[in-house]
Amino acid sequence: MENNIWSENIQGILNLDLSREIRFRDDRKDLFLNLLGLKEGMTILDTGCGPGAITRKLSSWLGNKTKIIGIDRDTTFINYANGKAKKQSIYNISYLEGDALKLPLEDNSVDACISHTVIEHVPNKEFLLEQKRVCKSKGRVSVMYCRPDKYIKTEPELLSKQSELEKKLLDKLFKGTDETYKKYDVGKYWPDSIELPKLFDELGFKNIQIDAIAIPMAIDDGRNSYNEKLAMIEAEKKQFLEIIDIGVQRNQNQLSDSEQKQLKQLIVERFDRRVKLSEEGINIWDYTILLLQIVSGMVE
Ligand SMILES: C[S@@+](CC[C@H](N)C(=O)[O-])C[C@H]1O[C@@H](n2cnc3c(N)ncnc32)[C@H](O)[C@@H]1O
Repeated sequence: MENNIWSENIQGILNLDLSREIRFRDDRKDLFLNLLGLKEGMTILDTGCGPGAITRKLSSWLGNKTKIIGIDRDTTFINYANGKAKKQSIYNISYLEGDALKLPLEDNSVDACISHTVIEHVPNKEFLLEQKRVCKSKGRVSVMYCRPDKYIKTEPELLSKQSELEKKLLDKLFKGTDETYKKYDVGKYWPDSIELPKLFDELGFKNIQIDAIAIPMAIDDGRNSYNEKLAMIEAEKKQFLEIIDIGVQRNQNQLSDSEQKQLKQLIVERFDRRVKLSEEGINIWDYTILLLQIVSGMVE
């Protein structure tokens, strides 16, 4: 039976694909691979892989001798990930539909387990026990998650702000979102900074490590070419518009057709103004820095 809870109610393909493409940029390859203990030739499981952006990164970073398995319970994501891998002629990733708490894998069958922004949505203990079950002895289980209380966001004067009308329409559209999140346990299990490594300890993991990566997303960063700057703005716009589409689908009748059109128009105009600044060569330094925390442990 199909399960499209996440893709239909929470986050869409574009949101996950485009944001992860930036988070897992190629210049962070060595950092990620080192901290996650991933090497060429391993069999690596990515649980809650979503549309597969991270699995594709690992495939390109680690090459054909590496086997990657992506598991997610959302049918739309798995179909998309399968289609994209095929289109890009990537043959070392297999995608499976399945529950993180009951993985469709044998005991001791992978060399390393990773997951990115999944643990906060599932009971931590059951999740880790299942990761441990499928991971071979001496393999590392790594959990990546973001700290919602550690987030830097600049709001420079020149950045075009949301108008009162845009805010009003967004409020109207997203009324009831909390209930939806509650219904699907979204963010119900945020790990505590002390309790999570403690849990690794309790469950018998060895050599437990705490790491973190600060991930800046700055359009005006001098390493971005002009086209990359425009692509980042475009990606943000697409993600925002997708959030609107998901909101409309989830909260039908909340906004009339003309209100939906109006809201999208306001968003497009706001992003167009941002593009214009880059076209004129003006740096305004609107950026975010998120803190990706990694807790990992070795299976004995
Ligand atoms: C925030 S998204 C992260 C997706 C992906 N790891 C990424 O960073 O692009 C959370 C993912 O966890 C999946 N998920 C949530 N609960 C799950 C469960 N019990 N079993 C399998 N997947 C689950 C959702 O379908 C969604 O794809």
